[in-house]
Amino acid sequence: MTKLRSKHILGISHLSAEEISFILDTAESLKEILDRPIKKVPPLRGRTIISLFFEPSTRTKLSFDLAAKRLSADSISISAKTSSVVKGETLIDTVRNIQAMRPDIIVIRHSMSGVPHLISRYIDASVINAGDGINEHPSQALLDLYTVREHFGHIEGLKVTIVGDIAHSRVAHSDILGFNKMGAEVTVCGPATMIPPYVEELGCKVSLNLKEAVKDSDVVIALRIQKERQGRSLIPSEREYSTVFGISREVMSYLKDTAILMHPGPINRGVEMSSEVVDSERSIILDQVTNGVAIRMALFTLLLADTGEN
Ligand code: CP
Repeated sequence: MTKLRSKHILGISHLSAEEISFILDTAESLKEILDRPIKKVPPLRGRTIISLFFEPSTRTKLSFDLAAKRLSADSISISAKTSSVVKGETLIDTVRNIQAMRPDIIVIRHSMSGVPHLISRYIDASVINAGDGINEHPSQALLDLYTVREHFGHIEGLKVTIVGDIAHSRVAHSDILGFNKMGAEVTVCGPATMIPPYVEELGCKVSLNLKEAVKDSDVVIALRIQKERQGRSLIPSEREYSTVFGISREVMSYLKDTAILMHPGPINRGVEMSSEVVDSERSIILDQVTNGVAIRMALFTLLLADTGEN
């Protein structure tokens, strides 16, 4: 494989297993740049990447920005608060105006599902979905897949359990699709109110019992309760959630010796994971963050390599 089929990265649902492996292999070859004293290489010199973040972000925004800089692209970010959307301009007019400045890639995060797909129809630039509503967060799933492959040497055959607010998590949606495509066996676990009725159609099992769900797992991914997307409370209290579905020292004792713990961040310590679990040797959460830069460098490289000019 020498290039991706689409010029956009809108979701894991649009990528084949072969394309996912190609992205992970490309990230693997680029990651060593992050350990060099001078962390900058020239392949995307003269290319322009604009990031539009209409929702808060630390990891995703910074790692897309850093990935662009590591590859010598010109990168500029604007947020909802600093864009003219607050003066009444429509999102489509905003992106048409941005397109008029001839960027090569637009990275977008938005609270509404489908916005990256919508804007991809109005502009010539490639669009990367940095998280759209409750739909998908493809670059997060790719970095999760990368981190698991880096740790175990493979993904196929592993048992992956995703614990938390599955219904409102775009990470869960993309992770289920991604791990499933790469041959892992996925189980989701959480309160019944946070498990969507269609979830098994995505290719995973459902468990409402945390101990049962994690005991044979190789990978446990805990998720934040997405209060900003719920509209109403789906649990009696965070304390009760933490008691029944939080990853605690006791839950860790049920895990296989080789099992690892992951979290996409941001973490609410003491709710989905106890502080000692977050900081334990089993946790590879900060490896996920490092690998996020390599994955986003790979996406930029592969999308812009499409033109054959770099
Ligand atoms: N994982 C993730 O999307 O984190 P941010 O919201 O900080 O970007």
